[in-house]
Amino acid sequence: MSDRLKELAAEKAVSYVRDGMVVGLGTGSTADFAIRALGERAEKEGLDIQCVPTSDASARLGESLGLDIQSLEDQPVIDLTIDGADEVDPQLDLVKGLGGALLREKIIAAASTREVIIVDPSKVVDRLGTRSPLPVEVVPFAWSLAQMRLMDLSRRAELRQGDTGDTFVTDNGNFIIDCHFDEAGITDAAALETSVNAIPSVVDNGLFVRLADIVIVGQDDGQCRVMER
Ligand code: A5P
Repeated sequence: MSDRLKELAAEKAVSYVRDGMVVGLGTGSTADFAIRALGERAEKEGLDIQCVPTSDASARLGESLGLDIQSLEDQPVIDLTIDGADEVDPQLDLVKGLGGALLREKIIAAASTREVIIVDPSKVVDRLGTRSPLPVEVVPFAWSLAQMRLMDLSRRAELRQGDTGDTFVTDNGNFIIDCHFDEAGITDAAALETSVNAIPSVVDNGLFVRLADIVIVGQDDGQCRVMER
């Protein structure tokens, strides 16, 4: 069911793509639906679009669909990015990074003229930090220092493990520490984003404050709820 709602939101977002655009490709199961829908549209309509991926996985998927995959180095200005999220609050601020791609996702979001976020209704929350932990990308050399400092800012801070039991490593060669909060969640997302990023060895964190321009929620009734900043 949730897959259908993700797909609905993805199809709506892909309808915003125009011929000639540079398009950012998000990461995760919802973004994958958008990449597939974009691949289909590009093929059917012969669209001339360039795509900048937010992860190696999305680059591989896009390539397999025949999309023109480019680097941010070649395309530093992106017209429209379509990405998923782990949480969306009423201000359209986000938590992202459960898939581990938060650093490139945040860079691409900041480089995009329009950041379109696609989610199913389970991701919509009253306050960030109540449904998902906050992922923080850290340099491996100092991960335990970062964990210690993050414990002061959250209830629990855990080094992320990969599927095989080893420490999870991002596409950038870094580790992720997942910060959990109590039921009240994150009271001031902008202040927390700054405090977390001030910790030595933190590369970036999954708080996306004022970066989303449009959020599309696929709904049970087959419609999409579109929220704009
Ligand atoms: C990837 O690092 C994340 O930011 C994803 O965008 C997020 O985890 C959403 O993923 P799903 O669409 O798979 O829930």
